[in-house]
Amino acid sequence: MSSALDVERLRKEYTMHGLRRSDLASDPFVQFNAWFEEAIRTGGPHEPNAMSLATATPDGVPSVRVVLLKGFGPEGFLFFTNYDSRKGRHLAANPRAALNFHWSWLERQVAIEGDVSKVSREKSEEYFRRRPLGSRYGALASQQSRPIEGRTELERRLAEVQARYGQDPPTPENWGGYRVRPYRFEFWQGRENRLHDRFLYLPALGGGGWQIQRLSP
Ligand SMILES: Cc1cc2nc3c(=O)[nH]c(=O)nc-3n(C[C@H](O)[C@H](O)[C@H](O)COP(=O)(O)O)c2cc1C
Repeated sequence: MSSALDVERLRKEYTMHGLRRSDLASDPFVQFNAWFEEAIRTGGPHEPNAMSLATATPDGVPSVRVVLLKGFGPEGFLFFTNYDSRKGRHLAANPRAALNFHWSWLERQVAIEGDVSKVSREKSEEYFRRRPLGSRYGALASQQSRPIEGRTELERRLAEVQARYGQDPPTPENWGGYRVRPYRFEFWQGRENRLHDRFLYLPALGGGGWQIQRLSP
C-alpha cells in the first residue's frame, strides 16, 4: 500500500521510567491509584480517565471503544453508557470485559480484565442527576449505536426531549452504570529497546490477596 505518510518510520524510544518489583504495591488497586493520580497530575489536555473498553459476543467476536472511567475501587471500575448500545448488548450476553488505559505521556499502559455487572438503578440515577443538563438531554435523545437518518433527526429528538422534560429530565430506563470487577491487572512501563517492564497481578491461590509476576516484554 502506498502512502505519503511513512508510517513504518514512526518510532519512539521509551526512556522516562523503569518499574521494579519493589516499586509495586501489593494491592493492584493501590498501584492503579498511584499511577492514575500521576496521570491526572501530568496529563494536561489529555483525558487520563479515557479507557478502551473491549467486549465480545458470546461466540467471541470482539469490539472495542473508548469510555470514561467514573470511579474505581475493590468493587470494580465504573463507567456509564446506554444499556441497549452495541456494548450493552454484548455485556448482557457475555458479562466480561477488558479495559485499557494508555497514558502515552508517561509511557505507561494498564490492562484490566474482569467480570461485569450493572450498578443499581439508584446509583445510576444519582450520577445522572450530577451530569450537565446538556449531557442528560443527549442521553435521552440518542438511541446509541442505532442507525439514524441524519443530524436533523438527532436535533429534532433533542428539541423534543427539551420541550418534554424542561430542567429535570429523568434517567433513561436504558441508561446506567457498569462495573468491571478485575480478575487480572497488568501494569506496563515502556523501556529502551522494547525491553519494557510488565507486571501481572492475579488473585492469589487459596483466597485473599494477589500474586505478582513479571512478564517478558
Ligand atoms: C474520549 C471518549 C469518551 C467517551 N466516553 C463515553 C462514555 O463514558 N460512555 C459511552 O457510552 N460512550 C462514550 N464514548 C463513545 C464510545 O466510544 C462509543 O462510540 C459509544 O459508546 C457507542 O459504542 P458501541 O456502539 O460499541 O456500544 C466516548 C468516546 C470517546 C472518544
